[in-house]
Amino acid sequence: MAARAIPVSPLTGASVAQALAARAVTLPQVTVLTATESTNDEALSLAAEGAPEWTVVAADEQTAGRGRLGRSWVSPPGHALLFSVVLRPDRSWPMAVWGWIPLIAGLAVTDTIRGHGVPAELKWPNDVVIDGPAHDGSAGPRKLAGILAERRGDAVVVGVGINVHHTASMLPIPAATSLALEGVEIARSSLLAECLLDWDRYWQQLRATEGDLGQSNTRSAYLARSLTVGRRVRVDLGGGNDLVGEAVEVDLEGHLRVEGAFGCQVVSAGDVTHLRH
Ligand code: BTN
Repeated sequence: MAARAIPVSPLTGASVAQALAARAVTLPQVTVLTATESTNDEALSLAAEGAPEWTVVAADEQTAGRGRLGRSWVSPPGHALLFSVVLRPDRSWPMAVWGWIPLIAGLAVTDTIRGHGVPAELKWPNDVVIDGPAHDGSAGPRKLAGILAERRGDAVVVGVGINVHHTASMLPIPAATSLALEGVEIARSSLLAECLLDWDRYWQQLRATEGDLGQSNTRSAYLARSLTVGRRVRVDLGGGNDLVGEAVEVDLEGHLRVEGAFGCQVVSAGDVTHLRH
């Protein structure tokens, strides 16, 4: 049987402007590109030129998209929502908050996706995932979106990639998924506007508490959506090193605390696998 064709939405300056206006989202600068190597690179250049907070760059296609831990981020043209945001944390905020900036982006995207009835959760640090097996029956969870934060001076650029219109054969790995495969058909421009609204809500909380994660409910919201905390995990730390234990907490610096025979280890970067036992 032929696979059902999935409708693909436009992502253009006009469609984005319309979606933002419909939700009264105002941004200092929005650039929508047909193609670019990486929206993070575009946003990093703008940040270096002094672009204000909430400058946004989106693209219909990336030819050299980057992922975490030196990986590439691959998506067929016209199917994903790919965008980057320039943020400018206050100089007075505690250093700990820097670790939370990419986690907050994941939290916002998770909220947006949950708003469409998809039970999105967070795999530490900020993979937006759906619990359950991959589309080929292998172990899950299924990854729906990824986030990459990169610092440039006082600014941080946070890039988001969400699989939107992909069929199973378009996915880069079996343990990925798309909103279409999870039963949601949504215009990418609308999704962008919704994500920015959810994200801004958390960012304003951070501003209101001067970057103090202990005072806002951001950390508890993250923990409530965490698929990792409370699970037995293996963390690939790179360089052939890994550790196995129970993920017990995401701390005030956004680091994962893992307990095992070795005691408690604080992990600032790594690749987590959820274990069954
Ligand atoms: C990951 O899960 O490894 C992070 C993926 C981040 C991908 C997005 S797509 C938009 C932005 N531009 C990039 O080059 N990367 C991020």
